[in-house]
Amino acid sequence: MSACRIAANKLRTTSILSVKTESPTVKTFTFKDRECATAKPGQFLMFWIPGVDEIPLSILDVKKGGDVSVAVKKVGEATEALHKMEAGDVIGVRGPFGNTFTMVNGRTLMIGGGTGIAPLLFLAKKLASQAPRMIFVLGAKTKSELLFMDDFKKIPGKGKKHVVASTEDGSCGITGMCTDPLEKILEKEKPDMIYACGPELMIAKVFELAEKHGTRLEVSLERLMRCAIGLCGSCVISKYRVCTDGTIFTKEQLIEVRSEFGVSKRDFDGRKIQL
Ligand SMILES: Cc1cc2nc3c(=O)[nH]c(=O)nc-3n(C[C@H](O)[C@H](O)[C@H](O)COP(=O)(O)OP(=O)(O)OC[C@H]3O[C@@H](n4cnc5c(N)ncnc54)[C@H](O)[C@@H]3O)c2cc1C
Ligand code: FES
Repeated sequence: MSACRIAANKLRTTSILSVKTESPTVKTFTFKDRECATAKPGQFLMFWIPGVDEIPLSILDVKKGGDVSVAVKKVGEATEALHKMEAGDVIGVRGPFGNTFTMVNGRTLMIGGGTGIAPLLFLAKKLASQAPRMIFVLGAKTKSELLFMDDFKKIPGKGKKHVVASTEDGSCGITGMCTDPLEKILEKEKPDMIYACGPELMIAKVFELAEKHGTRLEVSLERLMRCAIGLCGSCVISKYRVCTDGTIFTKEQLIEVRSEFGVSKRDFDGRKIQL
């Protein structure tokens, strides 16, 4: 293992600097960590909630002074415990881990669902100075869960930007899934690159359309993660370990792992379960 990876894997304790409520189920937590503040878009960290669990989270933002933010949805034991924590509470972090999105110099389309929107916001902020055109397609079940709409609208940079919102209940933007308007957008905008992050069945639909239109694609995949350094095997998808070979995968790599992508993953006992 390289010296860089060893340093990243060391558990550091730090304290929460601030907590912001983003939606009824999502909060953003900010803390100081110099290692994770070097992260690039697409990378993740392991977040330790003392006495409860350690969980993987995408990096939402980093600041030069060392501030790092993550957006966390309350779904189970660890995330519920984290939602009860406040500024000043002690946490632990390892990372940053994983590869990064490719920064293309062209027209880009980002499509995200749920908390999958978080890493795309980090990417959009970094790409804004060089992208001539950026389209953001953001989806959620309902308006109150549609994350970071205003942040995407306010991204600076000279290039043209357009935000398309969709909600399953029709309370904001297009009614339905965020992939519903995608084909028309691809035909009209002809982006050079699609970046996608969110539920895997959503990503699978994006993959299908990217294949049909011959568009370059990078997606962020989620699998069960324990070690985050390629040792335990809990994150495997066919020949890849998502924690070290990903979490960002190209369209060509997704073709290689077609038998498992959008189909199955491993559970806590290592058994394959249907998505
Ligand atoms: C690379 C990566 C990035 C992620 N980024 C974010 C993010 O930015 N924001 C966010 O809210 N969530 C993110 N998640 C999902 C987050 O890790 C889970 O929601 C969290 O671990 C749930 O823990 P829990 O104890 O609250 O819930 P549990 O009740 O333990 O689990 C609920 C569900 O969460 C998933 N999960 C649980 N433990 C893990 C684990 N160790 N690794 C992967 N998935 C797990 C499983 O699908 C499980 O069914 C990410 C996951 C991965 C793999
Ligand atoms: S999480 Fe252990 S090998 Fe990827």
